[in-house]
Amino acid sequence: MKTLRLALAALVALPLVAAEPPSPEALASQARSLAGNLMLSLQGELFAAMKDGGPAKAVDVCRVRAPGIAAATATGTPWKIGRTALKVRNPQNAPDAWEAAKLEEFRKRLASGEELKAIEVFEVVQTGDRPIFRYMKAIGTASPCLNCHGASLAPEIAAKVKELYPEDQAVGFAAGQLRGAFTLSRPL
Ligand code: HEC
Repeated sequence: MKTLRLALAALVALPLVAAEPPSPEALASQARSLAGNLMLSLQGELFAAMKDGGPAKAVDVCRVRAPGIAAATATGTPWKIGRTALKVRNPQNAPDAWEAAKLEEFRKRLASGEELKAIEVFEVVQTGDRPIFRYMKAIGTASPCLNCHGASLAPEIAAKVKELYPEDQAVGFAAGQLRGAFTLSRPL
């Protein structure tokens, strides 16, 4: 009888345990792994396009494919995924107030010696009447990125960027600098 009561108690307790919301650390780990997947897909596609047709063709790949790759990475998950930066090429990637504040923090953390790869932040943010979980991870600038985001672009690339992004701000970067961040969110 005692065993039965224990078994019943366990059965009743189980769904309660299962319904417990994931911890912020567990959510951050989901976000970190999605951001990692997105980075790999983007870089794979970008570097393949540069090899095929050079950076001018790769500009098209970035413009057309980057938002699609981000959406595909989020498919089947409760997450929204994007990229943002303090200086953006595509105005649609401009940061909101929370993202802009975190990007400033990232810049300070990098300047004070923190390793870029380790820079991330997560927080539960109240928006309207519901909480959302937000996560951001720093994106560094590597040498191949300078073809399109560096201080002096090849004339062909500069012309293409100007044509597609008349308000481009995402140039003048040097290797090792903070380029921007992956930004992820999900309702709780
Ligand atoms: C072939 C040119 C090209 C190369 C190389 C390139 N980018 Fe970009 N990048 C673009 C274009 C075009 C966009 C705008 C995409 C869009 O419309 O969403 C962009 C957008 C971004 C954004 C989103 C924020 C914004 O400015 O709109 C980030 C972050 C970014 N690039 C980082 C990088 C990093 C890091 C590298 C190197 C690993 C890199 N890029 C290499 C062309 C390039």
